[in-house]
Formats: sequence, C-alpha cells, structure tokens
Amino acid sequence: MVLIIGHRGARCCAPENTIPSFKMAIEAGVDGIELDVHMTKDGEPVVIHDDTLDRTTTGSGYVKDHTTNELRNLDAGVKFDAKWRGVRIPTLDEVLKELGNKTSFVIELKHGSDVYPGIEEKVLNLVRKYNVRAKIVSFDFDALERVRQLDDSVELGLIFVGKARWFIDAARKLKAQWLQAEYTLINESDVNIAHESGLKIGAWTVNDVNIAVKLTRMGVDEVTTDNPSLIIGSLKYH
Ligand code: G3P
Ligand code: CA
Repeated sequence: MVLIIGHRGARCCAPENTIPSFKMAIEAGVDGIELDVHMTKDGEPVVIHDDTLDRTTTGSGYVKDHTTNELRNLDAGVKFDAKWRGVRIPTLDEVLKELGNKTSFVIELKHGSDVYPGIEEKVLNLVRKYNVRAKIVSFDFDALERVRQLDDSVELGLIFVGKARWFIDAARKLKAQWLQAEYTLINESDVNIAHESGLKIGAWTVNDVNIAVKLTRMGVDEVTTDNPSLIIGSLKYH
C-alpha cells in the first residue's frame, strides 16, 4: 500500500510547517507528515521551509540570525490568510511533543552541520526523546552521512531531482532505505531500478489525482502531497 505524506502538513489549506497544518493533515488520514528543519542562533531546531523568515512569517532575515525567543514573537499564519493570525513557527521539540504519538514524520534537514553545527545530533536526540517514528531526508549527502554515522539504523531518504539510477550508489553508501524523487522526472523504470536495488522510492510533490494514481500504479512506495484529503479521498477508489 502506498504511503501518503502531508507535505509541510496540509500546505494547500493551512500555513505550511505549522501545528495547525500538521493537525489538518493528520485529520485527513495521512501516514505521516513531512516537515523542514533549520536552526536558530541559540541552537534550537525549528520547523520552517526557507533559510529566511520573509516569505512565510512577519519576520525578516535568516533563521540562523534569530534566537528561539525572537521567533516566538513572529506570526507564521497571517501571510497565508488573516484567519490564521497568531500561528507560530514551531520548534521541532514542540511538534514531536504534541504530535509524536499521532503520526510518523519525514524530517527534512535543509542544511547539515556546515551551516548549523550539530543539527544532525540534535534532531536525532529529539526523535529519541519522543520515541517517534521518523525518517530523516535531505538533498544534502553530507548531512545524511553524519546522521548515519551517529545512528546506524534510523531510516534515511536521499532527496534528488533526476533519474533514480544516478543516485543508487549514493543511497547505498548512506545505507539509506529510500530514494525521494521529484515526481516529474521518474517513470516505471526508475521505480523498478530502485526496487531491484533494494530501495523504496517516494515521489514529491503530487497534487493532481491522476498523477497520484499513475505513480501508485507504477509502484511508488510513497506519495507526498500538499493536499492530503484530495489525494487520500481519490486513491480510495482506485
Ligand atoms: O520531500 C522532499 C521535498 O519536500 C523537497 O522539496 O522544497 O518542498 O522542501 P521542498
Ligand atoms: Ca521539504
């Protein structure tokens, strides 16, 4: 059965990477939620997509130049829609504490220790602290390599844009279990190559029902979507 993952929660319908967005995805029946992690000036992993605050919050500048307390004073909802005014940027700790027993997590490291010293260890410690089901994913090979050095069994996924065969060796080196593919560039042969190599393959970010059905028929193991209720609702009938 294909797993359906809520991209930044339910990004279609609530401010991305916030607790209300994650709750909406969980209510829609996702198998897990995907979220993005950066780190504050005082070393706290926080959940936000961009390196900077400007697009999604009332703040500006780099996340890494602000303390956790400074981020608490920002609004991460109002730019999506005025009705979400008052929604905050959550720390990873807050998300895992509140929702850790309700779903599983696909945690994307936007940068590793070269930008955020020690982030791999901090994220692993939070996963252990709340004993959550989590897969750690990244475009950044070095960040995943560091996670693997710290933990030889945690589930890892290498995110890529391109053909699956280009990334098999890298995934093997990481002892990753997953390839995380940009969906427009993969076809049935990519899915088969991944499976023959002992890897599972996920597709992101799929918001069209027909494409979700096609990918599922191709045999992808996971579909990540901004609109979980749409995709879950329609896959039921296929
Ligand atoms: O899961 C991979 C996907 O989330 C990567 O793209 O930009 O949405 O973080 P992005
Ligand atoms: Ca992401």
